[in-house]
Amino acid sequence: MKTFREPAKLQKWARARRLEGKKIALVPTMGYLHEGHLSLIEAAKRKGADEIVVSVFVNPVQFGPNEDYDKYPRDEKADLAKCRKAGATAIFFPTPANMYLERHSVYIVEEDLSKGLCGARRPGHFRGVCTVVAKLFNLAHPDFAVFGQKDYQQAQVIKRMVRDLNFDLKIVVAPIVREPSGLARSSRNTYLSEEEKGRALALSASLKTILPGKSAEAEKKRVAGLLEKAGLVVDYVEIVDGETLEPVRKTAKGVCALIAVYDGKTRLIDNRVL
Ligand code: PAF
Repeated sequence: MKTFREPAKLQKWARARRLEGKKIALVPTMGYLHEGHLSLIEAAKRKGADEIVVSVFVNPVQFGPNEDYDKYPRDEKADLAKCRKAGATAIFFPTPANMYLERHSVYIVEEDLSKGLCGARRPGHFRGVCTVVAKLFNLAHPDFAVFGQKDYQQAQVIKRMVRDLNFDLKIVVAPIVREPSGLARSSRNTYLSEEEKGRALALSASLKTILPGKSAEAEKKRVAGLLEKAGLVVDYVEIVDGETLEPVRKTAKGVCALIAVYDGKTRLIDNRVL
């Protein structure tokens, strides 16, 4: 497995692989890899990638001033070992200084899908995500990139960016990977105490109770009630059209229910497409 730290070196290598006719998959991550990330590498293998590039970068630009950028878990050695074992062929560990040169002044802003949900609560978050993902696309020259459904809004925003800016690649969205308890795998789960982990089970459990053919407003209230009863502080519960992310009136096949809560100090998200 190749290891790159310099953006230009990855770019040169990826360009040469593409010229040789190799199919490149990109798996963008912020590291501290878990089963969820490994499933993205698996998806890349299943789709026939010859080269699987995993990027590991805690992107400062997508964190707000009071968010967890500094304490976000990092473990480069473990990430290397996991990528090698999972069958990645290249890993990219850039630094903030070599991704964002002095006086970096160009950003990508998606102005529709990123307005609500996490975008409304985390100003500038999707601007940071779109910018770094576009940079990674330009560096890794992927034929396709794999994202997790766990970050449902992010996947929709990236798909829109790819469509609207004519990026020459496909986006693959891989299903959420859950712990046996139902808790969606996330690097942020490491912040949770045992008690908080217990409370967090209400996310997946409450999503499961949503049935089709109901008033979305009533379902949102009911799910929020279940989350509060479990001791969580609700940031939002929304039921939206799976593509436009516009609120729907009725639950139905294809609509997406999304929740964000605070479990102690940790913000957790989860979702379910009906
Ligand atoms: O989903 C993530 O881990 C990040 O938002 C991403 C896509 C790697 C961009 O930093």
